[in-house]
Amino acid sequence: MQEKKIYVFDTTLRDGEQVPGCQLNTKEKVEIAEDLENLGVDVIEAGFPVSSPGDFNSVSEISKNVKDTIICGLSRAIVMDIDTAAMALKEANRKRLHTGIGASDTHIKYKFNSTREKILNQAVSAVKYSRKYFDDIEFYAEDAGRADQDFLAKMVEEVIKAGATVINIPDTTGYTLPEEYGAKIHFLMNHVPNIDKAIISVHCHNDLGLATANTLAGIQNGARQIEVTMNGIGERAGNTALEEITMILKAHPNLNLNTNIDSLKILALSKKVSKLMNMPIQRNKAIVGGNAFSHSSGIHQDGFLKHRENYEIINPSDLGIDKSSIDLTARSGRAALKHRLNLLGFELTKFEMETAYTEFLELADERKLLHDEDLYELMNRKNE
Ligand code: KIV
Ligand code: ZN
Repeated sequence: MQEKKIYVFDTTLRDGEQVPGCQLNTKEKVEIAEDLENLGVDVIEAGFPVSSPGDFNSVSEISKNVKDTIICGLSRAIVMDIDTAAMALKEANRKRLHTGIGASDTHIKYKFNSTREKILNQAVSAVKYSRKYFDDIEFYAEDAGRADQDFLAKMVEEVIKAGATVINIPDTTGYTLPEEYGAKIHFLMNHVPNIDKAIISVHCHNDLGLATANTLAGIQNGARQIEVTMNGIGERAGNTALEEITMILKAHPNLNLNTNIDSLKILALSKKVSKLMNMPIQRNKAIVGGNAFSHSSGIHQDGFLKHRENYEIINPSDLGIDKSSIDLTARSGRAALKHRLNLLGFELTKFEMETAYTEFLELADERKLLHDEDLYELMNRKNE
């Protein structure tokens, strides 16, 4: 089966940077944008130019400095926003506008105090107006996750007619279940007559921990662009994590969906984003957490040492990690202790090993995690 390319739209610098305490200065944003280009993302959402002079300046500087990747700016479906985004993106080699409006009845009624008809007209007018500056126009139907299916399909059809080339179907509130979200994309693929003139993009939030699962369901049902952030940083519980969804596609080649992401560059950028944005990465975070490639229980360590694939589904070398780590704690077994002692040059008889293991457990109960120095200490004690 032919492989399908999935475009990666990174919004670390927009949805990610909205998070309180994560704000970056222009120099930092340009540095991250250059790293994102090196990583292989296809589109960088650089900011929301009308939101502040600082954000305008960052979008403008990123546009001047990043050469090949598409640079995108966010706007509401409002003339002033679109004009401002066009100015900020003026010098980009390849530029995209991301404009849109609420599509759910909740947003239409309680956010805009409006009607479906008026919102549809505003959406179409905004896209038509954007063509004054842009060929590449992405339209977001905000809160599409909770929108009425037929109205959403109508909106998608009309904005494509007006000139939108990418249609973003955001699960803004992170409410949708994977099956439901997949079905929504499937419905649009099959009920919007001009859908072949645009690509569908998926933008999922993690309020129920389903952002990655929903994104996967979206691309399995025909979406061709994923909207992601490094480390899953983003509004409230965050967005789909770039490292998760791209490694899922790498670990499951039978899906025949692939991206341009160079997985060897993920870890360095993940650490940089975490440091600059002041957002520590939890140790058990998939792919980039400190424990993602460390084995700690005796049963797992024994199985891992017999055959790596007993307990690992991703090869750490895909991320540039030399090897997985075997943590020595009071939950470790004899196999792990023997393995580490051998690496340190100690060869013990079966009997010696039994005594060493008993003493090891006492030390591990006291010190929690044992390092090589602790093992030297243990072995020296025995020789005293
Ligand atoms: O979550 C959302 O709906 C958004 C839009 C602005 C695309 O971030
Ligand atoms: Zn969002």
